[in-house]
Amino acid sequence: MADPYRIVVTGATRGIGRSLAEGFAQAGHTVYGCGRDQDAIAELAEQFPAPNHWTALDVTDPAAVEGWVTSVLSEGGAPDFLINNAAVINRRAPLWEVPEEEFAQLFEVNVLAVSRLMRAFLPAMIERGKGIVINLSSGSGRMGIAEMAPYCATKWAIEGLSKSVAQEVPDGLAVIPLSPGTVNTEMLRSIWDEAAKKQPTPEKWAQKAVPYILKLTPEDNGQSLTVQG
Ligand SMILES: NC(=O)c1ccc[n+]([C@@H]2O[C@H](COP(=O)([O-])OP(=O)(O)OC[C@H]3O[C@@H](n4cnc5c(N)ncnc54)[C@H](OP(=O)(O)O)[C@@H]3O)[C@@H](O)[C@H]2O)c1
Repeated sequence: MADPYRIVVTGATRGIGRSLAEGFAQAGHTVYGCGRDQDAIAELAEQFPAPNHWTALDVTDPAAVEGWVTSVLSEGGAPDFLINNAAVINRRAPLWEVPEEEFAQLFEVNVLAVSRLMRAFLPAMIERGKGIVINLSSGSGRMGIAEMAPYCATKWAIEGLSKSVAQEVPDGLAVIPLSPGTVNTEMLRSIWDEAAKKQPTPEKWAQKAVPYILKLTPEDNGQSLTVQG
């Protein structure tokens, strides 16, 4: 195998993020994963020991993120991939029934934390002259869906954020909004119920997604991409 990549994955404790983290680690890459669920983090640390690096943290906590980024960078420098995957979804409801606090919380996790992670890692990636940032988008970031306005708004924000920062980074880097398609995760089950169970499991999805992501290059900078099922 060529040199292993150093890959940062937020929201590595379950669902899509976990399947990616496990897939990358199984392929011999070094994964720096985070999420709030301490039990899942302990399991991952046991399953995939050092040099992989697992940290229980909330991406909406600026001090915790700063400490984590410092330790990731001090262990080996800028990552090859930063995968901003952590996100939350709203309960299905028309906008006028969504409390403002719930709307704001979605923006805290799905948008502000993504910009925080890019702000923290990009200077080191730019100095190194290479690196790929993948921000998990969604079909919901490319169309409107009734009763999903807060989530759609955050994923449209991810598209705009990614495409704009893509124009700011120098050659050699890429910032890519990536839709995963539909995957049977806790998030999808919370809005789709039975239909979610007909979608691929995260493990099955990752069999395609892991090699697909590892083949992305700076030429993909700013493109809205989708993992095809
Ligand atoms: N599933 C789909 O079909 C689908 C479709 C389109 C887009 N997506 C996108 O794909 C990504 C992953 O979704 P998923 O379906 O795997 O969702 P999920 O099963 O709900 O997993 C979400 C992950 O994000 C983490 N997370 C949430 N809030 C966090 C916080 N404040 N700090 C740190 N980590 C946090 C969770 O970990 P903790 O709870 O441990 O913190 C968990 O690991 C999301 O960006 C989602 O919008 C999914």
